[in-house]
Amino acid sequence: MIKRFGYAIVICLFAATTFAQRPYHEQYRPQIHFSPPAHWMNDPNGMVYYNGVYHLFYQHYPDSTVWGPMHWGHATSTDLIHWTNKPIALFPDSLGDIFSGSAVVDVNNTSGFGKNGKAPLVAIFTNAQRVDAKDGVYYDQNQSLAYSNDGGKTWRKYAHNPVLRNPNIKDFRDPKVSWYAPGKKWIMTLAVKDHVEFYSSPNLKKWTKESEFGQNLGGHGGVWECPDLFPLTANDGRKMWVLIVNINPGGPQGGSATQYFTGSFNGKAFTPNNTDTRWIDWGTDEYAGVTWSNTDGRRIFLGWMSNWQYAQNVPTKTWRSAMTLPRELKLIKTGNGYNVASCPVKELHSIEGSPITLIGIKGDANLSKLIGRTDGQYELNLSSAQLKNFSLTFSNAKGQKLIAGYDDNSNSWYIDRTQAGESRFNRDFAKKFSASRISKNKGADLKLIIDAASIELFADHGLTTMTAIFFPDQPLSTISLSSPRQFRADRISYTPLKSIWH
Ligand code: FRU
Repeated sequence: MIKRFGYAIVICLFAATTFAQRPYHEQYRPQIHFSPPAHWMNDPNGMVYYNGVYHLFYQHYPDSTVWGPMHWGHATSTDLIHWTNKPIALFPDSLGDIFSGSAVVDVNNTSGFGKNGKAPLVAIFTNAQRVDAKDGVYYDQNQSLAYSNDGGKTWRKYAHNPVLRNPNIKDFRDPKVSWYAPGKKWIMTLAVKDHVEFYSSPNLKKWTKESEFGQNLGGHGGVWECPDLFPLTANDGRKMWVLIVNINPGGPQGGSATQYFTGSFNGKAFTPNNTDTRWIDWGTDEYAGVTWSNTDGRRIFLGWMSNWQYAQNVPTKTWRSAMTLPRELKLIKTGNGYNVASCPVKELHSIEGSPITLIGIKGDANLSKLIGRTDGQYELNLSSAQLKNFSLTFSNAKGQKLIAGYDDNSNSWYIDRTQAGESRFNRDFAKKFSASRISKNKGADLKLIIDAASIELFADHGLTTMTAIFFPDQPLSTISLSSPRQFRADRISYTPLKSIWH
């Protein structure tokens, strides 16, 4: 009997262990965010919408959980929420590894890569050749092409790569290409050390330099990387252009982050109408964010949900890193000009369970008790006619907790992950950080999306957005509200989110 019982325990333990190690069941594994089945991932790449399918390529090293010779991993989705993992799309070649870049649908077959009257998909990426020099390793960076004639399933490199050669500048990478209809030409926005350069081309193969931007504008605490340029109509009807420039380090909370400029673009040069430094996401963990091409009217943004400060040391075992939720960008006019706001794409509804709504919650309250259920991943929306100090605490039975809230002394939103679980892998990880409020509205509007190891905060309809990762021993599924100055939340709604993986 004891023996049989003992065997049963061993079998159960074995089953539990193998279950916990199956991809997408592991500890800390995001359940509503894209993460690679195994191994290393960084920037999103080549995001393009084609024939009803959203393609997501990404910087990937398939042999390890740390950065190494870069490939383009690949996943597809029809709704931006559920992802199907695909075989690796681009492998390193004789010109080097495959760094970040973009992809376009070449509708007019300007490149000549099309076949049988069908438009090709063309990827424009940085071929990065490792050079072991006397004074250290560097990567010789040139821009190359690959194309697909089967809707992104298989890719062939262009025989005459590279198409844009390095003029002897160390950092010369991450081409983002889009069609500029008024000039009937392609525009490449390229990150070059401490500025952006614009190139144009009739056919994606021959590129001419048009202008430079930004050497003395915006944030310069690090190297400029992964730019993006697109038109966006503001809420007052004004048509503008947004230039995204990722930067590492030099972000608002240290390490890497995504800044942007608003202004105009005439097919040759970008003229900004703001010269201060603005961030798409003020948190610690959104980087290399750029937008999908070919999405007609909607601007859908996705970032890598990590930070180069510690990305290679986070305590996940079989894979490293996830992407943020896809976010729709809006341009909103406020007191200080035009600001880019982000909100989770509406497709998130597809995984929402029934919302539970609480009305008129005052002071301190155990929300989980009132809600009557706990989940591993969920969305919390809070709105109120007034805005005073308040905080929401997400905790587990181990006493680990994450806090998000508003501080009226400094008029800022904040996230505090000092006690949210494992943090020994980096001495700057356990911290509290904040972002000044941009909106001047009187009331509170806050949306929080919590997954196994991340929080995304969208305040004031996304005008202030912050993302942070954390590593608790157990999910932080207990929620409480606290407010020292008798804050009254008019409405709090809790919505469980179904896993996108099982
Ligand atoms: C940004 C980045 C890019 C580069 C890629 C390499 O995170 O450094 O500039 O192309 O990652 O993986």
